[in-house]
Amino acid sequence: MSIIKLNATDSTNVYLKELALSQQLDDFTVVSTELQRKGRGQMGSEWLSDKGKNLTVSILKKLRAFHVENQFDLNCIVSLSIYDVLHELTVPNLSVKWPNDILSGNQKICGILIENVLKGKLIYMAILGIGLNVNQTYFQNVEKASSLKLLLGQNFDLDELLTKILDKLKSYFLISREELKTLYLKVLFRKDKPSTFKDLNNRNFTGIIRGVDPSGKLLVELEGGLLKPFDLKELKMLY
Ligand code: BTN
Repeated sequence: MSIIKLNATDSTNVYLKELALSQQLDDFTVVSTELQRKGRGQMGSEWLSDKGKNLTVSILKKLRAFHVENQFDLNCIVSLSIYDVLHELTVPNLSVKWPNDILSGNQKICGILIENVLKGKLIYMAILGIGLNVNQTYFQNVEKASSLKLLLGQNFDLDELLTKILDKLKSYFLISREELKTLYLKVLFRKDKPSTFKDLNNRNFTGIIRGVDPSGKLLVELEGGLLKPFDLKELKMLY
């Protein structure tokens, strides 16, 4: 396995994607950095992380015949890998908030940004970007954020955590799609519980998360029983 350690870069996802497009890299090549100047989050948001305190890494997964229709499997693989590592460290009340935030209680400890490179309808490489809050204890202007140190009261070695995550990732890439989905649904935040959401028009509505459809949309049972699929832009869960 190759690991490229950088003191600073704009975004490990961008760095790894550009490198992978310009030269042959090994499967599971990792780019990690102490500092991201323009860390990328979901839906164009920014990912902030104090220098040297957290895991900010991107991992290259080369794929063969991986249909874009199945791209949500990648979210399941990465979130379950991190979930397992944190579970083994005894992080309390873990869950995966759709599509792939890792929560302890209702506090986010890890964000995942997966960027796919396509050839037609096939994904031939995926950049698995992981931002895990490890030794940072103060989060300015970030709602509901936590870290391993805040939750478990001790510092953690970033390289050891990365090794554990890579081992889990490698094993989750070997299991069946059905098994992945079952495991993901078992740890899905607020599944089968009445929850409040905000829609595109900023209106609140209540519903119950029942699952995820084959394209990765969240299936919410609305009042009256209708099961409606939502994509990431179409709803925000209030919790
Ligand atoms: C989210 O919004 O929850 C996703 C955050 C993903 C952050 C990680 S940090 C390493 C990698 N490089 C990036 O620019 N983003 C991801």
